[in-house]
Amino acid sequence: MEFFQRRNSALYLEDVALSKIAERVGTPCYVYSRALIEANWRAYDHAFGGKPHSICYAVKANSNLAVLGVLADLGSWFDIVSVGELERVLMAGGRPERVVFSGVAKTHDELERALQVGIHCFDVESIEELQRLSQIAQRLDKVAAIAVRVNPDVDAKTHPYIATGLKETKFGVGFNSAVETYLTAANLPNIEITGIAAHIGSQITEAAPFIEALECMLTLIQQLATQGIEINHLDIGGGLGIRYQDEAPPNPQSLIEAMVKRVHAKRPDLTIYVEPGRSIVGNAGALLTKIEYLKSNDSKHFAVVDAGLNDILRPALYKAWQNIVPATERKETQPREYDVVGPVCETSDLLGSKRRLAVESGDVLVIMDAGAYGHVMSSNYNSRPRPPEVMVDGGQYHVVRRRETINQLLAAESVLPAN
Ligand code: LLP
Repeated sequence: MEFFQRRNSALYLEDVALSKIAERVGTPCYVYSRALIEANWRAYDHAFGGKPHSICYAVKANSNLAVLGVLADLGSWFDIVSVGELERVLMAGGRPERVVFSGVAKTHDELERALQVGIHCFDVESIEELQRLSQIAQRLDKVAAIAVRVNPDVDAKTHPYIATGLKETKFGVGFNSAVETYLTAANLPNIEITGIAAHIGSQITEAAPFIEALECMLTLIQQLATQGIEINHLDIGGGLGIRYQDEAPPNPQSLIEAMVKRVHAKRPDLTIYVEPGRSIVGNAGALLTKIEYLKSNDSKHFAVVDAGLNDILRPALYKAWQNIVPATERKETQPREYDVVGPVCETSDLLGSKRRLAVESGDVLVIMDAGAYGHVMSSNYNSRPRPPEVMVDGGQYHVVRRRETINQLLAAESVLPAN
């Protein structure tokens, strides 16, 4: 089934015309498809074919409460990286015992709150973090279940800013220090070793780096067993890419099947965790933006739109390519090659270069595949309120986050007191 679908000239998401949302809610505006988020999550679930597993949705990709609620209803687990994400999961109806806490810099307060609510597991990234966690757990009289995040030194062959599995990055514990880290954990009070974890990067479009990281973890599991340390779950992280332009990533089915086969050849009792973010929500969202002006500087044509790099950062930060299409197609207008640019005072505020579009001022454009790392990476740069978010559900839509107001932007600030 196609979730984004053109009916005559109008682009629909499920059964709602995007032009209608733009008109009623205004632009810029994020839209998400409930049905596609659910289908993406279920594709992972089916791929395991009944083998023990947990799909821990990476909250950072899109942390809107409605998105988390939809996934919680499916029985999803959650991968968080801050106490803010933890509170979101709890508020959306997620269960604490289905939460895995990743991140290289968990603070004292974050560890304490996570222990208090009883999360499932901490993916620890250093010996100092283990020691801190053990101290807090002793004080609270709790036991912290842990997995060590290992850095397998694997090249994920993705954009360097989102490659996390190479040894020169800050992430995880080096392969050669992993056993020592586990031995330390085994001797710390109120720490219980349950798993091993890795996450090698994001927007990965080949299976090979995942398999390489997996083999590294399986080797470590064997080494640990000789030291009397037993591992019950293996967390292969997230990172599976989606098709933005012409990438051809493996689908969850083939990737998971390949991994399950390897794991079960060695340890059929292991539970596999996976932490997908982008591949659950990426293609299930889009950003609607209106053309304010068309202008030409000498030979170059610009479509100046009302969404900028503060609303969608990926093109500016990673030179990421995302498809841009009109919400309603025009038959009579001649197509032209445009640079689609935003209002922010930076030349990098270029949402798409050299896009062939048949458009007029006032038309709504749809920036596709914006469901992951879209709204969550938005900011107030240039004092621009962040856009609303809308969840489409069949023939209905719901505003699941209101547009920010200028008053909200100013509310936390003050001028100096008068002398
Ligand atoms: N697990 C951990 C520990 C992670 O750090 C991440 C993402 C994920 C899971 C989910 O990865 P995914 O399945 O979404 O690839 N802002 C960048 C992506 C940063 C990803 C950071 N970590 C972008 O827009 O491309």
